[in-house]
Amino acid sequence: MTDGLAGSDRLLFELAVSAMGKAHAPYSGIRVGAAVLDEKGNMHSGCNVENAALPNGWCAETTAIGAMIVSGGTRIETILVVSTLENPISPCGGCRQRISEFSSPETRVIMCGPGGENKTLKIAEILPEAFSEKFGK
Ligand code: THU
Repeated sequence: MTDGLAGSDRLLFELAVSAMGKAHAPYSGIRVGAAVLDEKGNMHSGCNVENAALPNGWCAETTAIGAMIVSGGTRIETILVVSTLENPISPCGGCRQRISEFSSPETRVIMCGPGGENKTLKIAEILPEAFSEKFGK
């Protein structure tokens, strides 16, 4: 089912699946993994990290973006997300905004199911009219 994912996209999928295996998701039972390709060609991954005080948990994309930043990456070329849900997972609104912070209009978001079935859209397509620092200038 990963036939459609080639090259670096396939590597991102494998990295995200590995991260998904480390998810801390005892409350929802939904394990999520994310992997980012940055502007230097480096890859970073993350999983969701839930908390007994439910609103304090966070998403896999957030972990992966934090990993990119601490490694010195500054721009997301591609972010891939996968979960244990049957259908390709779609980033939540908050994560779309976090992705947007480190994106260009060309940044790709690959949404995957656990078997590799996937759909790719640009960040500008899933977060049109995004709020950004430009509004303050
Ligand atoms: N989740 C993510 O990690 N990424 C998303 O884009 C959507 C939701 C996580 C948060 C929570 O741990 C679980 O999935 C159920 O919402």
